Amino acid sequence: MEEVQKKRMLSGIKPSGDLTLGSYLGAVKNWAERAEQYDCFYFMADLHAITVRQNPQDLRRRTLEQLAQYIACGLDPEKNTLFVQSHVHQHAELGWVLDCYSMFGELSRMTQFKDKSAKNADNINAGLFTYPALMAADILLYQPDLVPVGEDQKQHVELTHVIARRFNGIYGDVFKIPEPFVPKVGARIMSLTNPTAKMSKSESEDAGSVLLMSPPEVIMKQFKRAITDSDTENCVRYDKENKPGVANLMTIYSAVTGQSYDQIEEEFAGQGYGKFKPVVGEAVVEHLRPIREETQRLLKDKAYLESVYQAGAQKASYVAEKTLRKVYKKVGFLAK
Ligand code: TRP
Repeated sequence: MEEVQKKRMLSGIKPSGDLTLGSYLGAVKNWAERAEQYDCFYFMADLHAITVRQNPQDLRRRTLEQLAQYIACGLDPEKNTLFVQSHVHQHAELGWVLDCYSMFGELSRMTQFKDKSAKNADNINAGLFTYPALMAADILLYQPDLVPVGEDQKQHVELTHVIARRFNGIYGDVFKIPEPFVPKVGARIMSLTNPTAKMSKSESEDAGSVLLMSPPEVIMKQFKRAITDSDTENCVRYDKENKPGVANLMTIYSAVTGQSYDQIEEEFAGQGYGKFKPVVGEAVVEHLRPIREETQRLLKDKAYLESVYQAGAQKASYVAEKTLRKVYKKVGFLAK
């Protein structure tokens, strides 16, 4: 009997920061189960990472570490296609073609470009400007049905639609227009030092971001120093408005133990923040321990990781080449 074709899903992750507890509990944790329903492609977006100056050794290390971490978080390389963007040359090639179908005005209006230009005033390079056209290429090469992205990348996916429709309008149906897909969000985790801001990887240097790979003693110290609120109540009670620090710790504790807020309030009744904080820290350490240990084990097995990303690139390249060949023909390039 023939198997029903699964819908295809694709997403890229920039290896420009270390994975945090926030992105794990909020997103990555739920990715493993997607493979049951979808044919999933994930890649490390190293071409995109260099739009901001990177230290070469760090970029290389992070790309490999990120792959190892995703596998340790449950992304099975047998069930998902995992690869490195720069290993599949079709991305850069279609990226160039799509540069020629992306308008200056459109690219100028991208909020990420405006934000990043402001932050990197000394390096507003052309790659930063055409970033969304390369992202459109990443997506359109694979003719995916769905592209899960965070809120900050929605504008880029919308521009991908505009570029794809423009191209299809001229040459016929070359690209599939992917559906927007807002993934089920897990817990929304805030910084431990600034509980009204998201725990982000760009904040990695900050004491408020818990890194997946941090040693237990570092994580314990971060939780002991977590900002709780300067109310006089000193009581573990969920009140996001008035006690964002405590609420954040409760969200984290709930996500790693599976307990409800009511159960947590009961568990810590009559105990102050001083008791609560280290217990949350320990629960996090224990939750992350298997992931950290598995990542470390994988990082020692370079041959295995290499086999994963090589097989991934081969599979990705096979799919990508079909689209690229069609595009080259449509725009009028002479066949090789
Ligand atoms: N720009 C995305 C980000 O910063 C990463 C990315 C690159 C991506 N190419 C992609 C995401 C294609 C989805 C699809 O998060």
